[in-house]
Amino acid sequence: MPRVTVTRRLRFNAAHRVHNPALSDQENAAIFGKCNNPNWHGHNYILDVSVEGDIDDRTGYVFDLGALKQIVEREIVDKVDHRNFNLDVDFMESVIPTSENIIVAFWRLLNDRVKPARLARLVLWETENNYVEYTGG
Ligand code: NI
Repeated sequence: MPRVTVTRRLRFNAAHRVHNPALSDQENAAIFGKCNNPNWHGHNYILDVSVEGDIDDRTGYVFDLGALKQIVEREIVDKVDHRNFNLDVDFMESVIPTSENIIVAFWRLLNDRVKPARLARLVLWETENNYVEYTGG
């Protein structure tokens, strides 16, 4: 049975400040630069959600991408879109809101929601030039 990976792209906007409260203001500014701006800044994020599985004989699908969109909207987009990662998002509490930490949190929210397929990869674009990728583990 061929196993195929299918991907749905979703978009959201969110604000954050990349800041480690355990460090001094000077250290934060030196490490994070403009991303440490005290009054926040925003990104137009792009999230690619890939699931892998067998092709269903009845539908020809690995996973209904409309259903995947609804799951990702419910589990992630509705919780972060037009929000501030530092202030408004409970699953990011006490976590430095880098894309690295955000994508791991997203994985935990989605991992059990795509059965019988398997969550194969998340890709989170923070800017046109910067993205992070996570495949679990
Ligand atoms: Ni940023």
